[in-house]
Amino acid sequence: MFKILGISRSLRADSYNTALLRAAQKVAPTGLPVEIYTRLRDIPPYDLDLDYPGRRPPVVQELRERITAATGLLIATPEYNYSIPGVLKNALDWVSTDWTRAEGLPLLRKPVAIIGAAPTTFGSVRAQLALRQVFLWTDSDVVVKPELIVFRAHERFDESGDLVDESTVDRLRNVLDALVLKIRADRQPHLAAASA
Ligand code: FNR
Repeated sequence: MFKILGISRSLRADSYNTALLRAAQKVAPTGLPVEIYTRLRDIPPYDLDLDYPGRRPPVVQELRERITAATGLLIATPEYNYSIPGVLKNALDWVSTDWTRAEGLPLLRKPVAIIGAAPTTFGSVRAQLALRQVFLWTDSDVVVKPELIVFRAHERFDESGDLVDESTVDRLRNVLDALVLKIRADRQPHLAAASA
């Protein structure tokens, strides 16, 4: 069974991006549970001196382990000042490394889908593009298309934070389907090796 870890950058309770992840939980096909990560606010600033086994803050170690255990990531990000919100970038920095070359890189070849929402007309597109650049360095396997840029987000959710815009729901489904295809494609070499 696949297991998707959903990370919303936003810390605020009424976040459109967290609401988007909740919508993903609802529309995800059977066999694709989406867990939402809730400890982003506890992640301390990146510190290279602490980025070694046994020295990392437990919350960071836990995030590394959860990403390693997940079959894929679904990241919902707003855009802050035309780019990736610092809190999200900081967390990604902590999970991008393996200085001892003994633990493995949590993001290496990890299937990732990026989505985002904002009340503005650009709907987080610049943050999404900047995130794609981060995942080039980490050699993660990012879904390129379809994109999900939820602009004018306030028009697409109801007062309880449910995604009610049908075209956005469809597109979200399509993103999840593309993530599943990516996971399956990534597993092909392993399946081929196992049956050899
Ligand atoms: C923003 N916002 C914003 N929106 C945008 O489209 N482009 C931008 O560059 C920015 N910059 C920005 C900076 C800061 C510090 C804040 C707090 C906000 C607005 C942002 O899209 C809006 O607050 C979203 O609702 C944030 O996402 P959540 O919290 O609803 O998930």
